[in-house]
Amino acid sequence: MKDFRSDTFTQPTEAMRKAMYEAETGDDVYGEDPTAQRLQRMAEEITGKEESLIVSSGCMGNLIPHMIKGGRGKEVLCAPESHIVRHEIGAVVSLSGTLPVLVHSDNGIMKKEDVENNIHGYAYDMSETSMIETENTTSGLVYPMENLKGIKELAEEHGLWVHMDGARIFNASVETGISVREYASTADDITFCLSKGLGCPAFSVLSSSHDFIKEAKRCRKILGGGMRQIGILAAAGIFALENNVGRLKEDHEHRVAISKALDETSWAEVKISATNMIFFTSRYPITNIIAAFRKKGVLFLEDGGMGRIVTSINNTDEDTDEMVKIIKEMDETEFRG
Ligand SMILES: Cc1ncc(COP(=O)(O)O)c(C=O)c1O
Repeated sequence: MKDFRSDTFTQPTEAMRKAMYEAETGDDVYGEDPTAQRLQRMAEEITGKEESLIVSSGCMGNLIPHMIKGGRGKEVLCAPESHIVRHEIGAVVSLSGTLPVLVHSDNGIMKKEDVENNIHGYAYDMSETSMIETENTTSGLVYPMENLKGIKELAEEHGLWVHMDGARIFNASVETGISVREYASTADDITFCLSKGLGCPAFSVLSSSHDFIKEAKRCRKILGGGMRQIGILAAAGIFALENNVGRLKEDHEHRVAISKALDETSWAEVKISATNMIFFTSRYPITNIIAAFRKKGVLFLEDGGMGRIVTSINNTDEDTDEMVKIIKEMDETEFRG
């Protein structure tokens, strides 16, 4: 099967597994895992933040900043499409008590003005705004730097914390040539995922100030995320940061080829095509289209009523050529179910 479902389905390569096998380990709860420490230092170098902490997942990397800087009964301004709203089982509400306020956005991308209109200061009967969340990339789309800078300026004026869900920040950076450090400078903390396009089996890294990370470590423990000999998994992260970042460009090129082929069909309308993601609609039921592709050995998913194709390290040039060929040769009658 050619798997275009998500970059979370990526498999550790043989070379990554070798690095994991050879990793030095220690008890990370006591800060004694040398490989975990090394990965955290690398993240600090990349993001330009004072300190970093490995967390078990992207969800944990999003939740902890809400626990520390969101606060119970306080508001976080975010896009309606954001992962914290749509795919994290309401954790920021149920576990940190923070209320997400959905700000007008263009496919997940907010402008300074959109955010500004929703900031509340103190009032005896209203919840106060404590935080702004940006997600970069969001549905594959890269946040324009101008928007991020505008949002950060606004946050500074109002004393608000900015959290960036940078699950796929390396895709943004590779696409635009803007460094992760520069993107991270528009937020007070950033979390990025190793377990997506970078091809690791687990982990995200949260980076911010020394004081924030000190508190984040306690939150991670509360959430059951204090882990012991994690060097085995951290070694995969180090391997990925050293070997798998530049190659994301290939995933983006594969996306361009597939998106072009879809655009040329009479049955698909491409709505978003950016970095490693394509979203398309059709006059046929998406589930029928997915079933027809599955019969031809290709997997992708439905998301929000659209077909969603994600390119990743899973997909070779040959897979992409095959996918393009299948799209071009697809007989529409197969979508009638
Ligand atoms: C933008 C974004 N943020 C956060 C996450 C959560 O990551 P995890 O599945 O590792 O918890 C995801 C997962 O797909 C994501 O796409």
